[in-house]
Amino acid sequence: MVKDQAVWPVQAIEAAVAPWLPGITVEILPEVDSTNSELMRRARAGQTAPVLLVAECQSAGRGRQGRGWASSVGDSLTFSLGLPLAPAAWSGLSLAVGVAVAEALHPRLGLKWPNDLWLDGRKMAGILVEIAAGPERYAVAGVGLNIAARSAQGFSTPPAALRDLWPEADAPGALLRMAGPLVRALRDFEGRGFAPFEARYAARDLLQGRQVTLSDGTAGTARGVHPTGALLVETAQGLQTITSSEVSVRPAS
Ligand code: BTN
Repeated sequence: MVKDQAVWPVQAIEAAVAPWLPGITVEILPEVDSTNSELMRRARAGQTAPVLLVAECQSAGRGRQGRGWASSVGDSLTFSLGLPLAPAAWSGLSLAVGVAVAEALHPRLGLKWPNDLWLDGRKMAGILVEIAAGPERYAVAGVGLNIAARSAQGFSTPPAALRDLWPEADAPGALLRMAGPLVRALRDFEGRGFAPFEARYAARDLLQGRQVTLSDGTAGTARGVHPTGALLVETAQGLQTITSSEVSVRPAS
């Protein structure tokens, strides 16, 4: 099926983020390996101006923990926001990004720790936050959002899509909705850390009170998130704080 060419409201997006990040550039690429990889390469080459980079097609999209991220032209939104950032501490940043994206999209979206967006038991979006070292730190927050239903192949549960909520949804409209809140969240995090996001995360926490199994085999009950953004799990050995680099979490069946 031939899909309509997307029309990206570049000026409206720039205007939406300008209150928190004046001078940001919005750039649309027909294809790149990965918007996160591209911004990390640019940062390592000294290009650290704020940019919101959208790819209509990613040939090597990356997910968390070394996984890939598949998307198809027109049926997905894939973008990364890159900006210099200097928070007092970094822990909780990726959760704050998840809160901002979920709030901007729909009240029914929940967060599966650390920052996956789920709708009715199915994943709709993923977030990959990376930090480039250098004279000043450069944060890259990448978002992959399913706009239309994706093939269920390779998934234990078929992914959700924004059109499950809004049949008319499209990638440019979704980006326009999210861009301002996302930039604002990064700025808030820079000034105040995870504190402004704690209660908002708790309101969407899908794991709270549920049995979870960690990838190292530990089992327990999820007890919300610590002020650092770590997952709290009550186990037979006591309350454990789990950081995102250690484990992945699946609700026990
Ligand atoms: C995950 O759920 O594992 C995170 C997925 C993140 C995907 C987005 S798509 C835009 C940006 N570029 C990438 O290569 N990854 C992120």
